[in-house]
Amino acid sequence: MNPDNYVAVLDFGSQYTQLIVRRVRELGFLARLYPYDEMADLGSPGAIILSGGPKSTSDPDAPDYDMDLLDSYNVPVLGVCYGMQSLNKKFGGTVEACDKREYGPAELVTEGSALYEGISQNSQVWMSHSDTVRELPEAATVIARNASGTPVSLQFNERYYGIQFHPEVTHSHEGTQILHNFLKLADELAPFVIEDFKNEMVKKIQDFVGDKQVVCGVSGGVDSTVLAVLLHEAGVNMRAVFVNNGLLRKNEAEEVVANFKELGVPIEEVDATERFLGVLKDQTDPEKKRKAIGNLFLDVFWDAVGDAEILAQGTLYPDVIESASNAKSKASVIKTHHNRVARVLELQEQGRVLEPLDELFKDEVRELGVLLGIKHDILMRHPFPGPGLSVRCPGEVTEEKLETIREGDAIFIGKLKEYGWYDKVWQAYACLIPVKTVGVKGDERCYEWAMGLRAIVSEDAMTADWVELPPKLLREVSNGILNSVPRVNRVLYDISTKPPASIEWE
Ligand code: XMP
Repeated sequence: MNPDNYVAVLDFGSQYTQLIVRRVRELGFLARLYPYDEMADLGSPGAIILSGGPKSTSDPDAPDYDMDLLDSYNVPVLGVCYGMQSLNKKFGGTVEACDKREYGPAELVTEGSALYEGISQNSQVWMSHSDTVRELPEAATVIARNASGTPVSLQFNERYYGIQFHPEVTHSHEGTQILHNFLKLADELAPFVIEDFKNEMVKKIQDFVGDKQVVCGVSGGVDSTVLAVLLHEAGVNMRAVFVNNGLLRKNEAEEVVANFKELGVPIEEVDATERFLGVLKDQTDPEKKRKAIGNLFLDVFWDAVGDAEILAQGTLYPDVIESASNAKSKASVIKTHHNRVARVLELQEQGRVLEPLDELFKDEVRELGVLLGIKHDILMRHPFPGPGLSVRCPGEVTEEKLETIREGDAIFIGKLKEYGWYDKVWQAYACLIPVKTVGVKGDERCYEWAMGLRAIVSEDAMTADWVELPPKLLREVSNGILNSVPRVNRVLYDISTKPPASIEWE
């Protein structure tokens, strides 16, 4: 059941729809996402936002809605991009389809409206559309234009607003303020309280699972840990399975087991180290290595969970939007993620996949984790790839190489923590560069490998920049590695941006 006066966001298929929900939550208000065709089921919202979408309003199968129904809610409505174009049509104007897409920054020239109170003139906004409004209906007033005078924002009658740009993306510099201005037009809105959100999730989990057996894979990372603790708190019949693939960092398996013990959540550890190192033997091709690990992981996991009735996954919203096989999203497919492999899709079709975190972004999951009593160190852990240290060990993976990486990585990460840099970087690690060069150790010639260090900042892992770490820190890491890690006589700091270099070495 919906509480009163929440913000209803209707999804017309934009990649950014959940970002609108997120911005509203950041502003402190409760927001809920609905597919556009569930407009009849909103209850009593305090404001409604119509999202953008990939279709043209003139497509025969363009998402459509009943204007009388929308009007019957009697609350302020904001149409974003497709949302604005559809409102323009509903009020009697026209929209022109265009083959060329306008994508990128534009300047906003406002014309005195409550929507733009406090917004600077020529503020940057972000455009991503092909259609544009052409004839304006009588009810429309232009409330903002771009620098060349084209209308980019309209008001229709009293309660309806339209904006052509995307206020929810960070490239719209004052976008959040524009959303806030819109929400101020509504009567008092329901606040977003993370505790309520958590309680609601627990209730949903209980309803979904009932007395069935649910299984979830845990890696020790943020998402799967939060998921397992949430399931535990929901009191459902759960098995949490941790597969040790032998490609983990120093002491990682022991730490994961200890952390879960401390959290009071029982986990089953499956040690499959030998099987993983076995399939990696003589493999040097990065893709073949990845595939071998991915397939074996599934086999090991499936052997362990047997005929579990429900599979729980820590899928987050960005994973959903990129895979788009989740019924809640109307966006188009971009790429298929590991949690959308064939076996999972089969279970999903049978209604046997539970993904309670699928409306959240990483930082919101972390906030939820705090509420669940998960300690800071776990919640702030850097991302760690599924194929583990294998992607930080170019060429063939051997136990000796893994051991070398583990030692160097532990020194690097330890120093980052000591210097307060760990939480400031998005991801950092040591990798092996399996090229031997000449050096001197203890007055003797040595011929040994090099070790690479990589520390990056990123927002979404799609692009990344290397971090200018203090030279003193780097010097201490280098000394530490050269003095204590066997088989290494050289340390290099990776100063490559992504693109072209990926974050991992393979
Ligand atoms: P790349 O190397 O593609 O990495 O720039 C982007 C981000 O994704 C992580 N990564 C993975 N995560 N399974 C995962 O769960 C994988 O196979 C995988 N490969 C890369 C990587 O650590 C970085 O954060």
